Amino acid sequence: MSDKKWKVGLIALSMIVIYLFIGFAINARTIDNVVALLRGAEVSSSQRYHVVLIEQEQRHPYWQLIERGALDAAKIYDLELEYTGPVRNNMEEQIKLLEKAIASKVDGIIVQGLNDEKFTPVINKAIDKGIPVLTIDTDAPTSRRLTYVGTDNFRAGNRLGHMVVQATGGQGKIGVLIGSDKAENQMLRLNGLKHVIDQFPGLEIVAVRPSNISRIEAVEQAIAVLAQHPEIDTMVGTSALDALGMVQAKNHVGRYEIRIIGFDDLPETLDGIRKGEIVSTLAQKPYLMGYDSIRLLHDHFRGRPLPKEHYTEVEVINASHARRE
Ligand code: BGC
Repeated sequence: MSDKKWKVGLIALSMIVIYLFIGFAINARTIDNVVALLRGAEVSSSQRYHVVLIEQEQRHPYWQLIERGALDAAKIYDLELEYTGPVRNNMEEQIKLLEKAIASKVDGIIVQGLNDEKFTPVINKAIDKGIPVLTIDTDAPTSRRLTYVGTDNFRAGNRLGHMVVQATGGQGKIGVLIGSDKAENQMLRLNGLKHVIDQFPGLEIVAVRPSNISRIEAVEQAIAVLAQHPEIDTMVGTSALDALGMVQAKNHVGRYEIRIIGFDDLPETLDGIRKGEIVSTLAQKPYLMGYDSIRLLHDHFRGRPLPKEHYTEVEVINASHARRE
């Protein structure tokens, strides 16, 4: 064979090897890793995708369930998960944490979109910088987030309304505690609840107060509402600790007959149902929200398209279910 033919053969072979190598490297990891591989550097596990979950409040029992789901999924999908949140419910602080995650160039962000107007510009800033964002628990629907993972909050409010109708037989004066008047999931639940109550002339919401997602504040607000409105016979809560605060309040003021309908299924809420202190609760799926948001981000990193909304189920729990738990 002539020299020329050898050279052409060698060049073709080298090109095939380079092509296969690059193809392999791209499949295995991101372009950064390709560069590292070409330089002969080892691709270490520290180059796993780094994802930040930004919660409404640190060490809150509801958010701890979301963390648990996200951590379990992060192990399975081999992502590095960091979670953070304000020490006490504080939207400005939460937005600062979102800005910080963007500045530290994380690979993905999962954030509660507490307030559409405030969160949308910051979420869009992350998207402009190439950082995918998912909203969890509360959506920021006008932002360019990839997906919302959580409850359909208006529909959940409707369900709560029907639970009230069932418990009261369509007659009663209602006091409502909401987690926060700045949180859009709470306002959607309240609107969904009102929508049903308005269809029953015998039912009336006489007071709505925020609990600031705190059990102590829920107790204080419920005591104040009961003092101001002695005609109240039913109390409804739209966030995880409200029913627990209302139980303490009704026991404190000796109004044991008051019906309480709550939100979420923290262990103490289920206990309250078993003891007959709470009539029923509408349970969200926080563990699944955490798990599915990580699973969907992983899908995104793999180039798979995501749905615009990924609604998790809610479930009505009353005495007959709670006893079985
Ligand atoms: C809500 C969360 C909130 C939590 C606080 C849940 O019902 O979905 O947004 O942080 O309650 O108790």
